[in-house]
Amino acid sequence: MSEELENLEKQIEEKITNATTLDELNSIRVEVFGKKGLITNHLKSLTELPENERKEKGKKINNVKNKINTLLQQKNKNLSDSEISQKLQKEQVDITLSTRPFEEGKLNPITQTIAEVSTIFQKMGFETALGPDIEDDYHNFTALNIPPEHPARQLHDTFYLKGKNNKLLRTHTSPVQIRTLEKKKPPLKIIAPGRTYRADSDITHTPMFHQVEGLCLDKDINMSHLKGCIMDFCREFFEINDLPVRFRPSFFPFTEPSAEVDIGCFKDKKKIKIGSGGSWLEIMGCGMVHTKVLKYSKVDASKYQGFAFGLGVERLAMLKYGISDLRSFFDSDIKWLNNFGFSIFENIEKI
Ligand code: DAH
Repeated sequence: MSEELENLEKQIEEKITNATTLDELNSIRVEVFGKKGLITNHLKSLTELPENERKEKGKKINNVKNKINTLLQQKNKNLSDSEISQKLQKEQVDITLSTRPFEEGKLNPITQTIAEVSTIFQKMGFETALGPDIEDDYHNFTALNIPPEHPARQLHDTFYLKGKNNKLLRTHTSPVQIRTLEKKKPPLKIIAPGRTYRADSDITHTPMFHQVEGLCLDKDINMSHLKGCIMDFCREFFEINDLPVRFRPSFFPFTEPSAEVDIGCFKDKKKIKIGSGGSWLEIMGCGMVHTKVLKYSKVDASKYQGFAFGLGVERLAMLKYGISDLRSFFDSDIKWLNNFGFSIFENIEKI
């Protein structure tokens, strides 16, 4: 009887040793411990034995059972380990393979220019503010000291939205000044880049274009702050340390006094170049915020003054990057973009 058990044990051990897959091992487990398994049958047969033999036999069978169980567990671990390492071997990624070629997209020079302008003003402490493209008459005109009968309204060639009680596409980014003052109290320094719209289309005008607005309000702000800020900006933007910058008296309803900013330029082989050379190019409007604008926005004009400015993004981009046709910005011509566009990766931190 015990010899039979020993033989069985050896047999099973051999089978376990020879098993090469987890499936095989599982079949052995069923064969041994299943309902009609080899060891199970032995255990069942115990009931037929007299009490004194039963105990001893039971012990022996249990011993064999435990040994086989341990063997099964060990083998199971070995087989799973080697199956995993085989799988890893098979599914190994070859990191030495070169990547698939891909085409890098380009940023439109307008996006690039807005990023450059914003970066310069951010370094001077200006925060970025945004406002809606669809504006109302109050924010686009009235609160900027452009009353209904004012001739400046005609100059703006406004797009009105049908039946939207005087809703319009903003004609400039200046309404963001008003919207900012509704939420924030001075002192403040903001720039507001964004799209603007006017019903005008020829070589030098597109119905949609971009501006960056600026507003700085604080105690004791005067025109020299405005001049310093704009001169620093122009010189940094065009990367010319001694770039001549001129402030020419002008008129805007929302500033008093108002000025137009010109930068030095000259002609080189029929091309306009930025720098000192005797000629001037107009690049933005600016001035000291009109007290009426401050009053509309409930700012105490006896305490706070400040300056504002507004520049055209397309114009700055054309001058800096030698782009001659304004309309090319919006043609979606991939060849043009490949030539004048900017690498996304080089600019990631600016945007
Ligand atoms: N909003 C003006 C325009 O679109 C530009 C401008 C001029 C903005 C002077 C200003 C400013 O803030 O002070 O023509």
